[in-house]
Amino acid sequence: MQSIKYCETSKLTDTTYVVKAALPCRFAKPRVGQFLIVATQNTERIPVTPLWLEEAEGKIHFIVEVVGASTYQFIEDLKNGLSITSLMKAGKPNNLHGKILFIVSPIAVGVASYAIQNSDIKDYYLVVASRSEKYRSIYSYLTNFISENKSFFHCDQDRNLSKTLGELKDTISFSPDIVMLAGSPSMMRFSFETLKTVFPNSKFVASLNPIMLDGTGMCGACRVEVAGEVKFACKDGPDFLAEDINWDNLIERQKFYTSEEEEAKRQLILEN
Ligand SMILES: Cc1cc2nc3c(=O)[nH]c(=O)nc-3n(C[C@H](O)[C@H](O)[C@H](O)COP(=O)(O)OP(=O)(O)OC[C@H]3O[C@@H](n4cnc5c(N)ncnc54)[C@H](O)[C@@H]3O)c2cc1C
Ligand code: FES
Repeated sequence: MQSIKYCETSKLTDTTYVVKAALPCRFAKPRVGQFLIVATQNTERIPVTPLWLEEAEGKIHFIVEVVGASTYQFIEDLKNGLSITSLMKAGKPNNLHGKILFIVSPIAVGVASYAIQNSDIKDYYLVVASRSEKYRSIYSYLTNFISENKSFFHCDQDRNLSKTLGELKDTISFSPDIVMLAGSPSMMRFSFETLKTVFPNSKFVASLNPIMLDGTGMCGACRVEVAGEVKFACKDGPDFLAEDINWDNLIERQKFYTSEEEEAKRQLILEN
């Protein structure tokens, strides 16, 4: 675990920020599939997905969506000039190669952009599945790095995800080797169930983001059931074959701490 002295934060939506952090020397860059765990002196550990690497500058970008107490405090602390006090890598690297269809939520878009930058991908198509127009700014930010004509932004206001997925076979010019899913469990499950007959020869991989506490495989918070076995997303994942995931169990566990989380955020907003 190491500290970061320099960081820059820019606002993309009312709740979404891009943080650019300087990687400490001797901190090997995260491999594709891995994620970072960050914190300030005032927050719990927060898992985030690398978005882009400025290799020459030694800087990494990641998105933070303010959803609860820790993400709120994290952004407040950075705005007030505090450092990121801990940074560690977690998760198993994956081996993305060939032709990839990415279906990701705006906050999980790093699963696609970081892989596009750092994997041996032959071709790709990116669907950013968003429920709100406000996340278009994330898409605009992303097009600084990745080719706009290979991506497609979907918003529920304009068209529904089901229609977008239904049209994919005609939209993309290749048959994907891998369909990579990242976002809410319900979005990933829906996309998997809709597309498995459209692309019967593709491998479907889901990047899971269950509640994580220590990020080391010790606390059990990120327990998921995969192919009938208990796995820990922080050390065995976060990527798993979609067909092996017990989706009902995953969705149920995500709701476990909702009332405590809401109370923690309410208290923090009252204090500030
Ligand atoms: C592998 C992984 C990668 C992630 N990458 C990113 C990222 O790049 N950018 C980003 O903004 N967030 C990312 N997240 C989610 C982020 O870590 C959580 O939103 C954050 O830890 C919530 O902390 P909090 O104290 O602010 O909210 P809490 O008070 O803990 O929760 C507030 C609300 O957010 C929901 N929530 C909590 N944890 C998660 C979670 N892990 N996933 C989804 N919803 C959650 C809760 O159910 C609740 O409704 C990632 C999570 C994982 C596990
Ligand atoms: S976060 Fe504790 S076991 Fe994974």
